[in-house]
Amino acid sequence: MATIPPNLTLLLLVVVATTTTTSFPCFFAAAEALPRFREAPQFYNSPGCPPPLPASSAAECAEAESEAAVHVAMTLDAAYLRGSVAAIHSVLQHASCPQSIRFHFVASAGAGAGVPYLNATIAGSFPSLSFRIYPFADEGRVAGLISTSIRAALDRPLNYARSYLARLLPACARRVVYLDSDLVLVDDIRGLAGTPLPDGAALAAPEYCGANFAAYFTPSFWANPALSNAFAGRRPCYFNTGVMVMDLHRWRLESYTQRIEEWMQLQQRLRIYELGSLPPFLLVFAGRIAAVDHRWNQHGLGGDNYQGLCRDLHPGPVSLLHWSGKGKPWVRIDAGRPCPLDALWVPYDLLRTPFAVDDS
Ligand SMILES: *[C@@H]1O[C@H](CO)[C@@H](O)[C@H](O)[C@H]1NC(C)=O
Repeated sequence: MATIPPNLTLLLLVVVATTTTTSFPCFFAAAEALPRFREAPQFYNSPGCPPPLPASSAAECAEAESEAAVHVAMTLDAAYLRGSVAAIHSVLQHASCPQSIRFHFVASAGAGAGVPYLNATIAGSFPSLSFRIYPFADEGRVAGLISTSIRAALDRPLNYARSYLARLLPACARRVVYLDSDLVLVDDIRGLAGTPLPDGAALAAPEYCGANFAAYFTPSFWANPALSNAFAGRRPCYFNTGVMVMDLHRWRLESYTQRIEEWMQLQQRLRIYELGSLPPFLLVFAGRIAAVDHRWNQHGLGGDNYQGLCRDLHPGPVSLLHWSGKGKPWVRIDAGRPCPLDALWVPYDLLRTPFAVDDS
């Protein structure tokens, strides 16, 4: 039951594709200009779940229903849309209460005509989803705060939206699960959303204390006690900011967004780190977060940043697969060079290939 008819471009491409059987690669490249997505199956709440949230692309969150709901925050942009759609699909498919999940999407305010397209795409693939798109109002200011980085791709302002969720989202979203767009869940999100946040912790994420924490900051940072004292009395460990449980209420009380911005301002004057959005998070939160089982962020599947080598899972159980790193499964699959684990992403892909236009 597709609500969006294939546009003229797509029709023309179908004609081309059906008359030339060897046009696969250029066909996909052209279709990427305005990808269309299939509708996901409807997923229903199990007995014992809270009542379903209203299906709406303009969902207002009401205080009463908000406690029972799971709030999920993600960014939406054209470049990662295929990943976002797959991630949402995976969340719904494995949730025991899929109709009690409210999605909060942050989109680039400068996307212009892009926001209606994103809005229509999400509503088309998930007709009963309760969601809302928030324009990233702080984007211009964030762009001014971003230092030039060796990995420029990481420095899109939208990557910093996760630091602004407490400002962007309504107050009734007291606790949210933030998810990157290059991941899929293979387990019930309630298990992650229900992570206990003990007194004082505004954030929970899997910690990796074996990683070389010092390497995330420059030698001049560590050589200056006025700076490195930021970690005094803490046992800081690396954590990945792609999967986080955030207590936005506490975040607002403690002005964490402002504290992150202060470190970004300092970075503009003194070079205290190299990578983009992660180090300010580490400065504010490392050693102060609640731990989450590693099963909830099997990260690094994007592979090696320089040679594009495939990576394997970390030992232990898996509830969430995260293709962090340079390579994305949809890119490698389209290029005909998938890594073995990319096969685990495929079942969640909803991209409408031209050959499947008629199947809905
Ligand atoms: C998305 O679409 C809905 C319904 O068409 C509309 O009410 C809402 O304002 C739209 N959201 C954005 C951010 O454009």
